[in-house]
Amino acid sequence: MADTIITTDLVAEFTERFASSKAIHERAHGAIAGGIAHDGRYQKPFPIYVDRADGAYKWDIDGRQLIDYAVGHGSLILGHGDPDVRAAVHAQLDRGTHYGAGHEMEITWAEKIVELVPSAERVRFTASGTEANLLAMRVARTATGRSTILKLEGHFHGWSDYVAKGEKPPFEDAGVPGIPEDVLRTVAVVPANDPAMLEERLSQDDVAVVLVEPSGASWGMIPLADGYLEQVREITARHGAILLFDEVITGFRWSPGGAQQRLGITPDMTTLAKIVAGGLPGGAVTGRADLMDYLAFKDEPGWGKKKISHPGTYNANPLSAAAGIACLTKCADGTVQRHCDELAATLRAGLNGVLERHAVDGAAWGESSAFHLILGERVSNRIDGDLRRPEGVAGETLKSSGKAGLAMPIAMAMELEGVDLFAGGGMLSAAHTPADVAFTIEAFDRAISRLRQSGYLV
Ligand SMILES: Cc1ncc(COP(=O)(O)O)c(C=O)c1O
Repeated sequence: MADTIITTDLVAEFTERFASSKAIHERAHGAIAGGIAHDGRYQKPFPIYVDRADGAYKWDIDGRQLIDYAVGHGSLILGHGDPDVRAAVHAQLDRGTHYGAGHEMEITWAEKIVELVPSAERVRFTASGTEANLLAMRVARTATGRSTILKLEGHFHGWSDYVAKGEKPPFEDAGVPGIPEDVLRTVAVVPANDPAMLEERLSQDDVAVVLVEPSGASWGMIPLADGYLEQVREITARHGAILLFDEVITGFRWSPGGAQQRLGITPDMTTLAKIVAGGLPGGAVTGRADLMDYLAFKDEPGWGKKKISHPGTYNANPLSAAAGIACLTKCADGTVQRHCDELAATLRAGLNGVLERHAVDGAAWGESSAFHLILGERVSNRIDGDLRRPEGVAGETLKSSGKAGLAMPIAMAMELEGVDLFAGGGMLSAAHTPADVAFTIEAFDRAISRLRQSGYLV
């Protein structure tokens, strides 16, 4: 899918409407490398700058309201400013933001995770999902005595050197700038949904850990086939490789116990971030006690050579712990997830209905409370209803759907209609209502007309 050159009246209207964001973005370029703080926030012709957020909404710096489907990159399943999370953080703020010491909340926080996540026997906190995966890979390499990391094409595990290869299309391109060849050689990538390839690679007996997004790449942009994860579980166990579910997005969203609980498949290790810290910075590694034990100090002779080093100034930060406990407590009985899932299903169906009525190629699809959107590609199984897996479009094209093709024009058109998508789709929260979803479907209808008028769609 080629990047789209944006040169129409849509841009002129967007630029006029969001002129303050344009000005502030120009200022950003003078101090921030590339003008943005996260590659995912790159937007043509410029990103919208936000002043405040509450519930399901955020307001740009001119006070324009947008329905928010980024929900803190998926971390705010309760929506912005949940009263219980806010109260917990406010209370903690008055008691100190960093003790440089242990505190009881970190134990309560870990206990909540152990209670909810099936694979979690012990927990270690980190400051982000990227860090959680780094630590988990180190644990797996230590426990197995093997060095290769195996990933699935398109699956995202943060921005560290070990997980960049094979994440972005073209997947077979092993060259990743800034990462030494020696590091890249310790990472193997196989296509998802191909158990035979996985089996073949694991039979070399050098793989420490298989990293998987249990939703499929990028929270279900490239869905996994039914039964594939069961096969991955069986094959990894047979070959002595650790199976790690990266539940940074799916954790506490796909169900209170994450995708593993929803699917009934228990990995050896799990990484968490986002919702686990209630929308504040934080992450966690969890898993079997015998694996997590490599983090422990022991007096046994020779243990010093096995003990995994794990410092980190912001590990189990009290503010994140307070937010995390409040959030996980509210997410424990499944009510929040059911609400979000139902709304997302209605939204996906409504977006497909709009595409059907306009006879425009593309589809909305997804699972749980996530939705993805592609325009201008023929999805052979598109229906006027909810869709779990799009067919007839290559995985690489699906994976680019948030950035390439018509992703930027539709993002602009939706923002003009008062809706902020995330990576071409988004996630729902407890704060979103049926009225928000209905508004979004109507906004999408008008946005499609705009794209027609601007010549993006025929
Ligand atoms: C599946 C997955 N793993 C890891 C990460 C990295 O987490 P963080 O951005 O907290 O480093 C992300 C971030 O979006 C993610 O979606």
